[in-house]
Amino acid sequence: MQFVDLNAQFERIEQEVRNRIDAVLKHGKYIMGPEVNQLEKELASFCGASHALSCASGTDALLLPLMAWGIGPGDAVFVPNFTFFATAEVVSLLGATPIFVDVDPVTFCMDPDKLQDAIAAVETGNASLHPLPQLSTSHRLVPRAVIPVDLFGIAAHYEKIIPVAKSAGLYVLQDAAQSFGCEWDGRRACAMGCDAAATSFFPAKPLGCYGDGGAVFTEDPELAEVMKSLRVHGKGAHKYDNIRIGMNGRLDTIQAAILLAKLEVFEDELERRQQVADLYQSRLAACSNLTLPSVPIGRKSAWAQYSLLSSNRESVLEALKERGIPTAIYYPTPLPFLTAYKSYNYHPDDFPVASRLSEEIFSVPFHPYLSEDSVAFIADTLTSIEI
Ligand SMILES: Cc1ncc(COP(=O)(O)O)c(C=O)c1O
Repeated sequence: MQFVDLNAQFERIEQEVRNRIDAVLKHGKYIMGPEVNQLEKELASFCGASHALSCASGTDALLLPLMAWGIGPGDAVFVPNFTFFATAEVVSLLGATPIFVDVDPVTFCMDPDKLQDAIAAVETGNASLHPLPQLSTSHRLVPRAVIPVDLFGIAAHYEKIIPVAKSAGLYVLQDAAQSFGCEWDGRRACAMGCDAAATSFFPAKPLGCYGDGGAVFTEDPELAEVMKSLRVHGKGAHKYDNIRIGMNGRLDTIQAAILLAKLEVFEDELERRQQVADLYQSRLAACSNLTLPSVPIGRKSAWAQYSLLSSNRESVLEALKERGIPTAIYYPTPLPFLTAYKSYNYHPDDFPVASRLSEEIFSVPFHPYLSEDSVAFIADTLTSIEI
């Protein structure tokens, strides 16, 4: 049994993928070929955004709007403390300071009340309002942006986060690396009213390519133009007219071609993901030793992961391993406690929710092609474990 079975998907779309790759091999436009433009149009139309810009990874998709907004040294960017490293890494890479905000214990997404406290703490320099990093400078940081993460496929609490951010004058950048295809009140990820949104096409993501890839979305035509320039070395009117410092952040044409093939089955895969999740939910409903994922009313998850909580995780993982069931832990260490942020000097009590989640969380196999029998086997195994 595989944790994410990409071969099962490939068997379904093999001919389409091969045809589209062949077409690229024939026209030979490996950089910014016609498939890139077509993909961008289809991505924008899929989620209902005005502008979609493909790029080399989800990490670059986060970097591009931050760079366009001129985020840099002296700026504070609020990020959840329980996510993949890249969400905070891009902030640090630009010389700005990530301000970690604890997550909601039910959705595992950024807690909007704590965001409000964190903004007040940065604005006043008062760490008794919210834990702040220990920095070598005594200069007060300027709050500039917030990056809510749609963890495991559920849209973050935008109904509260956007008003909080706007009243503090912050940009909102949706990190939809794990949630492309999810919904909130009928709006799809990357078109949920944020200033910009980033997604990842890492192979195991809900919509993944066969390598690295990503895309950034916005309603703002000027932002889209600046990000287009940043994506290709700060390009101006032509290739050798470099008007700003940018990056080489293009998506390969071959990856765009693969994504076009995958988009054709994506709606169906989202439905299958929901069915697999429903099956897990019903089979595990009576399992009182586990906390099951919970999707708030009005939201549809993209089900990037099926993650559970157990206060006795090690025994559960051991029992699953004995029966050949692979598992993963997302994430074993909250970001503030990673070595890269050691100098911030945070204490586990600063972030009680993320600290508990990192000790209890684990994920079981999940993908659109997981059979009913496999779900039943995994669920029965989980149910039979005596804790
Ligand atoms: C929440 C989150 N943000 C950003 C990224 C970075 O995406 P990529 O690996 O495509 O650079 C990931 C990838 O795992 C992610 O899960």
